[in-house]
Amino acid sequence: SCVAPARVPRLAVPVRASAEPAAPKPKPKAPQQMLVYSPPHPLIKHWLAILRSNFTPPPMFRSACAELGRLLIYEAMREFQPTMEQQVETPLGAIADATICDPDQPIKVIPILRAGLVLLEQAQQVLPFHQTYHVGYVRDPATLQATAYLNKLPAKLAPTDLFLITDPMLATGGTIVIEDIVARGGRAENIRVVAVVVAPPALKKLADKFPGLKIYTAMIDEQVDERGYIVPGLGDAGDRAYGTP
Ligand code: URA
Repeated sequence: SCVAPARVPRLAVPVRASAEPAAPKPKPKAPQQMLVYSPPHPLIKHWLAILRSNFTPPPMFRSACAELGRLLIYEAMREFQPTMEQQVETPLGAIADATICDPDQPIKVIPILRAGLVLLEQAQQVLPFHQTYHVGYVRDPATLQATAYLNKLPAKLAPTDLFLITDPMLATGGTIVIEDIVARGGRAENIRVVAVVVAPPALKKLADKFPGLKIYTAMIDEQVDERGYIVPGLGDAGDRAYGTP
C-alpha cells in the first residue's frame, strides 16, 4: 500500500501553524560506525523465546513476530521519524503545542519477502505516513548468494529519503537491498533495519560497507551453519510464519 502524503488529511481538528517557526534542529553528525541496537526489554525477550521454540505453531509465530517487530520499530523510529511542530485546538477551546509526524517525509518501508511481511503490517500500523516497496530474494543453496526475484524499488531515490527495511533474519547478507538503495541514490545513514535475529557474518559485511547504518534487533546470535541458518536462531522464518512444510 502506498500513502501519498499530499492526499493524507491533516489532523481532524483545525491545525494552526505556530506563530513563530520552530528553530531548526541541529543536524546530527553522520555516525562513523554501524550501530546494532538490541533494546534490553522483557517483552522483547519474551516474544523472542516464543519465536525460538520449536513448538510454536504458525499463527502464534506470526503474532509473536509482529509484537516483537512493533517494539523494535518504535525504537528504530525514536531518532529517525521526522516531525513538525504545530498547534491544535482541544475540546476545551485551549491551544496546545503539538508535535506530529511530517506527512511530506513518509518512511519508505521495504519488506524482504516472505517473512518481512509480518513486520511490514506492524510498520504500516505504527507509521502515520509511509510508502511500501516489496523486494524478494532467493538464495542459491550451494553458494548462499541471493538474487532478486521481485524488486519494487523506484529507479531513482533521493539522498534525503528515509528507509525502514524489515527482515526478521539477517544471516549472511542483507547487503543486496542496501546496495540497491544506495545505487539508486539513497544513503546508508538514512536506512534503519529491523531484524528479529542477526548473526555476525551479516553484521561484519554490513559494518564494512555501510558505516552509517543502524540495525535494531532482539538478539545477536552466535553463528550461521553451512546451510546459512542462524544458530540457535529460530529456523526458516518464512516457513514458520506461513506454515510451509
Ligand atoms: N533466514 C531464515 O529464515 N532463517 C535463518 O536462520 C537464516 C536466514
